[in-house]
Amino acid sequence: MSNVRPESMARITTKELADKFIAEQVSEVQKQVGDKKVLLALSGGVDSSVVAALLIKAIGKQLICVHVNHGLMRKDESEEVIRIFRDGLDANLVYVDATDRFLDKLAGISDPEKKRKIIGGEFIVVFDEEARKLTDVDFLAQGTIYPDILESDGVKALHNVGGLPEDMKFELVEPIKLLYKDEVRVVGKALGLPSSMVDRQPFPGPGLGVRCLGAITRDRLHALREADAILREEFEICGLSKKVWQYFIAVPDMKSVGVKNDKRYEGWPAIIRAVNTTDAMTATIEEIPYEVLHKITARITNEVEGINRVLLDLTPKPVGTIEWE
Ligand code: XMP
Repeated sequence: MSNVRPESMARITTKELADKFIAEQVSEVQKQVGDKKVLLALSGGVDSSVVAALLIKAIGKQLICVHVNHGLMRKDESEEVIRIFRDGLDANLVYVDATDRFLDKLAGISDPEKKRKIIGGEFIVVFDEEARKLTDVDFLAQGTIYPDILESDGVKALHNVGGLPEDMKFELVEPIKLLYKDEVRVVGKALGLPSSMVDRQPFPGPGLGVRCLGAITRDRLHALREADAILREEFEICGLSKKVWQYFIAVPDMKSVGVKNDKRYEGWPAIIRAVNTTDAMTATIEEIPYEVLHKITARITNEVEGINRVLLDLTPKPVGTIEWE
């Protein structure tokens, strides 16, 4: 397949078109791979999840999914990957909890670009270690999608991390590389993936690492993860999760004075960011009803250890980027 999307290729908008695409790709992949093994870094994001489900359909246990938990996932994210793929689809899934390795390397590092480099670099090291434990793997599957090819050099799944070492030579399997994101979602649904996985918001490769601002500590990261889970839960309840493109909490490395149970309580602020955009180049602020904001504030300040204030970021992009780091 060439990298140019043929003019004749109709957008995949319905279950029928998705089923047809799936049947074509299943036979293409079977032809390409034969009886060999394929490796896939399964982050749990939309693209890698859809590739995993598609390849499981095509080649079953010849696909080896490696899920690296870098300790910067949102609450229950890794558990969901295991539940859906290992328990639900009977995938050949290697789960690596590398939390300590990542957090130890990140300790004391406050520069955002250094943090990104460490996370990306360590991801490669961990993934490479797992790949070397396996034998007879000739192929590497990637969740490259069409905009990745248009916007960059086409190397996607590992685009946050720079690529595998030179001696790790694989032939690529990229079954969704001609699809736009909305088409990937339609295909994912046709493959039976749950909405919680297929309709999820974008999540940066370095994960909560770029939202736990400055030098990451385990206690502040834990507070961020819990506060973020509450925000997502409340957006789900009031329906904002369907209207807002990206929403999350950021927790800066600073404390203010507060009072809890009649005692002085020093804590971090949790900053709510909720933006709408089509291409992430510019973004507008989604209005959140005050009653929802009050409920979120009450829950986060009562339920999350270490947080004593909740703030709302009203800055569009530009001037503010979507992420804080
Ligand atoms: P910014 O913060 O630049 O973000 O306005 C635009 C979009 O990109 C995501 N983002 C990242 N995604 N690795 C990623 O995979 C990164 O390092 C990264 N930084 C920002 C961000 O979440 C938003 O959707």
